[in-house]
Parts: sequence; structure tokens; C-alpha cells
Amino acid sequence: MSRSPLIRLIALGGIVAAASLTAGTKLNPHLDETMVRRGCPACHTGHGVSQSPMLSKAQKETCLACHNDSFGVDQQVAASALAADARPPLLGSTLSKISVHPLSAEANSSDQNAVVCTSCHSPHRSMPAGRGVAGAKNRSPKDPASFEYQLCESCHGGVPGSPNRTDVARLVDSTNRSYHPLEAPATERSPSVASSLSGREINCVDCHGNDDAGGPRGPHGSNVAPLLRNNYRVTDGAAESQSAFALCYKCHDRTTLLDKSAFPEHREHIVDEKTSCATCHDAHGSVNNRSLIGFGDPSRPSPVLPSSSTGRLAFVSSGPGSGACYLNCHGVEHGPANYGAAKIQQTIRSAVPLAPADLLPPRGRPVHGPGPIDPRRPRQIDFP
Ligand code: HEC
Ligand code: HEC
Ligand code: HEC
Ligand code: HEC
Ligand code: HEC
Ligand code: HEC
Ligand code: HEC
Repeated sequence: MSRSPLIRLIALGGIVAAASLTAGTKLNPHLDETMVRRGCPACHTGHGVSQSPMLSKAQKETCLACHNDSFGVDQQVAASALAADARPPLLGSTLSKISVHPLSAEANSSDQNAVVCTSCHSPHRSMPAGRGVAGAKNRSPKDPASFEYQLCESCHGGVPGSPNRTDVARLVDSTNRSYHPLEAPATERSPSVASSLSGREINCVDCHGNDDAGGPRGPHGSNVAPLLRNNYRVTDGAAESQSAFALCYKCHDRTTLLDKSAFPEHREHIVDEKTSCATCHDAHGSVNNRSLIGFGDPSRPSPVLPSSSTGRLAFVSSGPGSGACYLNCHGVEHGPANYGAAKIQQTIRSAVPLAPADLLPPRGRPVHGPGPIDPRRPRQIDFP
């Protein structure tokens, strides 16, 4: 590292320390010398690796010096870098789980396109207060001036050139027809959702994070892909159970969903025909459909086919408890199949022409056999 950044580091040192003290919040443990005994040099050295803010090692290694395992912590204590009673959360075993958030082993903080710990964290600032309060939006762990979902969407938002897998931001956008309430409260009430969450907001980390509830929190690693805190079976053909859809049943009451939901055919599809929630719902949201129904969204590899009589793949609904599906699922034609008021109301009928009254098969007929396994989703785990 050249001399000018060194001078800048020293000059900024006072600002870093002052900012963390005057913020009115607790001092970041990294700047608390009763915890991190060595202070700034615990992470910064006079000659850091090239292009880094004077970090002696690649960033992942810098952070994992104290956050990997108890062996590493003992070494830090022995080297008088860390207080003997400091308890940094240990991520080592979490980072070797089946599904992990990508994290570059070599990159340092200035690599804009790599994911490093400081893509999501600020090493000098404490985690914002109020995290984990059910029903409220979390502040970003990196910058409390913004929300956690904004941090996640900065990479999961289809920004050209950014590391991006799915444009999650497009699906959770609060101008959509329906969305899980990450950015803003939902526009319709869900009869099955826990009363403490009704009309409230949730966070990405309510679903994405450690499957071990006692382990370190955060979207670092899980044995349930993709980085889910609870089990969620996305293929059809296996029996419904509390554990198969534990992720959804954590916030949505199972009994209400199966017996009293706005969708009267839930039990028939989920229990009798062994259909996964994921076949009909998108866990994030839907640009054009009510109730997170994913049919017809181009970004979604569709588990069902267009209706063979109409060529349409669509969910048409004007309000809770009433709708029509155009699709073909495991050879069962819905061209369309109506439910609720749509079945009887002439007004809805005229909006939905060509309605053979109800093409849903009679109850109990096992029409949905096991579907073809989607090779994109090979790692789902079902805890019996
Ligand atoms: C726990 C490790 C750790 C400790 C302790 C630490 N820092 Fe940092 N510091 C980092 C990391 C990592 C970055 C890069 C952050 C980023 O890019 O987002 C950084 C960045 C900086 C920068 C910005 C450099 C730039 O190019 O803009 C300054 C200045 C700085 N640290 C000063 C300090 C001072 C002064 C102390 C002691 C009061 C300190 N740091 C303690 C890890 C640490
Ligand atoms: C020298 C040891 C050390 C290093 C290196 C270190 N940490 Fe920490 N970290 C700690 C300690 C100690 C705590 C506080 C544990 C406690 O609260 O008892 C902590 C806590 C944290 C927390 C929780 C903070 C909060 O406010 O609740 C985060 C997040 C964190 N570290 C991230 C990082 C990142 C990112 C890096 C690399 C830039 C890093 N740590 C490097 C020792 C370290
Ligand atoms: C700095 C960019 C960046 C940020 C910020 C970021 N991610 Fe990611 N995330 C990625 C990349 C890159 C991937 C891997 C994409 C791929 O495999 O194609 C990924 C993958 C994921 C996956 C899929 C993991 C799997 O096993 O398939 C989840 C879930 C995820 N991120 C959640 C989050 C959440 C929640 C946040 C906010 C707390 C977040 N991400 C913030 C870059 C980021
Ligand atoms: C962390 C809690 C949480 C989890 C987990 C969760 N939901 Fe939700 N869900 C909500 C909240 C909050 C609402 C908004 C309802 C309200 O305000 O009344 C909602 C609404 C919905 C809606 C109705 C959306 C609308 O606008 O009409 C559907 C459909 C839904 N969830 C399906 C699911 C499915 C499928 C899963 C499992 C993949 C799931 N949910 C997991 C909290 C959760
Ligand atoms: C209600 C639970 C829930 C919430 C809230 C949630 N996700 Fe997801 N997410 C899921 C599920 C379930 C999947 C797997 C979907 C599937 O395979 O059908 C997933 C998949 C993903 C993937 C991987 C996509 C792929 O195709 O592999 C990423 C990335 C992701 N989510 C990011 C986010 C981000 C960022 C947020 C917050 C803005 C978020 N999620 C909020 C449940 C959720
Ligand atoms: C994709 C974003 C992301 C990345 C990358 C990331 N974290 Fe986190 N981390 C989070 C979030 C979000 C939380 C807070 C979770 C919560 O509040 O439930 C968190 C929580 C933590 C905690 C507190 C755990 C606890 O139980 O209190 C520590 C320590 C931590 N992270 C360290 C790290 C280290 C070290 C790295 C790099 C090896 C890292 N994180 C990489 C998003 C990330
Ligand atoms: C065959 C397709 C299908 C399957 C499979 C399915 N749903 Fe639904 N679900 C719907 C439709 C359609 C609606 C809209 C009902 C309305 O308001 O008209 C709905 C509504 C909902 C709602 C909002 C209303 C309420 O009762 O709170 C939730 C939450 C929900 N579903 C969760 C789930 C979960 C969790 C699963 C898996 C265990 C699942 N669904 C499986 C089609 C399906």
C-alpha cells in the first residue's frame, strides 16, 4: 500500500473512532479494546495486501481469524489480540453447510464484484438495534441509514453488471399485484398469517439464514437450499406434513390454510394430490397475479403447462376466494377451472369466457402423480 492511503487511514482513524462513539449506540466490539485488545492493528497493518485498506490478509481470512472456530479464538487470545472473555459468534461450521452464500476467499474490500464479509457488514459500526423484532423491517447490517432488503436487492435486483442470480427485487416490488411484505405491508390480509404479522412487514432473513436456530444468525449457510431457515419441499408427489412446508407454516397456520383459506381447494391440492406450494406460489411475489401465484411469470421455470384448449397459462382473480386457473398440470386440463364465486357469478363468467363449469377433478382422485424432478433443485431435503 502506498503512503497516502496510510496517512488517510491514520487521519480517518479519529473519525472512525469518533463516529462510533458519538452515534449514541453501543461501541462496535471491534473498536472496544476491552474486547479486541489489539485495536486497529487486529485487522490493519502498516503494509496491507495490495489494493486493500491495509489488511494483512484477504478479507475472509481477516474476519475468520476471530469468527471461524474456537481454535482460532484461542490463538487470538494467546496472541493478546482478543480478550479471554470475548465471544465472537463462530461461523466456521455454518460456512461449510450444503447451501452457503457465496463469499470470495481471495478478495479484499476494494473488489467491487466479489462478495466479501463487508459487502453486508461494516467492520467499524455496530449492528443496528432492533434486529429480529417480528413484524418490522430490519435496518441494513452494513449501513443503518437503509433497510436490509435494500442491501440484498443491491445485488439481487437485476442491476446490469452486478453479481446477480434472480431478480428478486422485481418480484418483491411493492407496486406488484402481490408480494411478500418486505418493502411495504401487503395490500390484502391473509386469513392464515399469524395475527402478530397481519398488516406488518418481514425480512429476507426471516426465510434465508441458518437452519440451526441455535447457531449464528444471518444468511451465511444452511443445510436447506437455497439458504433457507426451514424446510421447504418444492417438488410434487410427496405427502404433506408440518415439516415438508415448515418454512410457510412458521408464519401461516396450517389448519387455517388447509381448511379455512380463501382458496377452498388448498386441501385437495396439497394433501390429496401432494402438490407443493411452489407449484402455484412464488415465495417472493408476483408482478401480475394476486396471492403470489406464479403462473405466467417469464422468470419462473414453470412446473405446469399452458392449458391445452386455450394455450393460456394464467390465474384470473378479481378478489379473495374467487378465481380461475388456465393450465395443464400432469395431464389434468384446467381450461379454465373456476373456484369460489367465479364458479357461480355470471359477471366473472363473462370475464372468463369458455368456462366448462368446473374442471377440477372429483375429490380424492389421485391425478397428480410425482412430477418430473426439476434438475435445478436437486438439493432439497425432507426431514421426516
Ligand atoms: C475487525 C477488523 C477491523 C478493525 C479492528 C478495524 N478495521 Fe478498519 N477496516 C476493516 C475492513 C475490513 C475495512 C474495509 C471496509 C470496506 O471496504 O467496507 C476497513 C476500512 C478502514 C478504513 C477505510 C480505508 C479506505 O480505503 O477508505 C479506515 C480509515 C479504517 N478502516 C480505519 C480503522 C481504524 C482507525 C481502526 C481502529 C480504531 C480500525 N479501522 C479498526 C477492518 C477493521
Ligand atoms: C480480533 C478479533 C476479531 C476480528 C478479526 C473480527 N471480529 Fe467481528 N467480532 C469480534 C468480537 C470480540 C465480537 C463481539 C462478540 C461479543 O459481542 O461478545 C465481534 C462481533 C461481530 C459482529 C456482531 C456485531 C454486533 O454489533 O452485534 C459482526 C457482524 C462481526 N463481528 C463481523 C466481523 C467482520 C465482518 C470481520 C472482518 C472485517 C470481523 N468481524 C473481524 C472479534 C473480531
Ligand atoms: C455483494 C452482492 C450480494 C449481496 C449484498 C447479497 N448477495 Fe446474495 N448472492 C450473491 C451472489 C453473487 C450469489 C450467487 C449467485 C449465483 O449462484 O448465481 C448470491 C446467492 C444468494 C442466495 C442463493 C443461495 C443458493 O444456495 O442458491 C440467496 C438465498 C441469497 N443470495 C440471499 C441474500 C440475502 C438475504 C442478502 C441480504 C442479507 C444477500 N443475498 C445479499 C450476491 C450478493
Ligand atoms: C416470516 C413470516 C412468513 C413466512 C415464513 C411466509 N409468509 Fe406468507 N405472508 C407473510 C405476511 C406477513 C403476509 C402478509 C399478510 C397480511 O399482512 O395479512 C403474507 C402473505 C402471503 C400470501 C398472500 C399475499 C397477498 O398479497 O395476498 C401468500 C399467498 C403467502 N404469504 C404464501 C406463503 C408461502 C407459500 C410461504 C412459504 C414459502 C410463506 N408465505 C411464508 C408472512 C410469511
Ligand atoms: C417467505 C420466505 C422468503 C422471503 C421473505 C425471501 N425469500 Fe428468497 N427464497 C425463498 C424460497 C422458498 C426460495 C426457493 C424458491 C424455489 O425454489 O421455489 C428462495 C430463493 C431465493 C434465491 C435463489 C433463487 C434461485 O433461483 O435459486 C435468492 C437469491 C433469494 N431467494 C433472495 C431473497 C432476497 C434478497 C430476499 C429479500 C428481498 C428474499 N429472498 C426473501 C423464500 C423467501
Ligand atoms: C450476504 C450478506 C452477508 C454476508 C456476505 C455476510 N454476512 Fe454476516 N450477517 C448478515 C446478516 C443479514 C446478519 C444478521 C442476521 C439477523 O439479524 O438475523 C449477519 C450476522 C452476522 C453475525 C452475527 C451473528 C449472531 O448470531 O449474532 C456475525 C458475527 C457475522 N454476520 C459475521 C460475518 C462474517 C465474518 C462474514 C464473512 C465471512 C459475513 N458475516 C458475511 C449478512 C451477511
Ligand atoms: C393448486 C395451487 C395451490 C397450491 C398447491 C397452494 N396454493 Fe395457496 N393459494 C392458491 C390460490 C389460487 C390462492 C388464492 C385464493 C384467493 O384468494 O382466491 C391461494 C392463497 C394462499 C394464501 C393466502 C390466503 C390465506 O389463506 O392466507 C396463502 C397464505 C397460501 N395460499 C399459502 C399456501 C401454502 C403455504 C401452500 C403449500 C403448503 C399453498 N398455498 C399451496 C393456490 C395454491
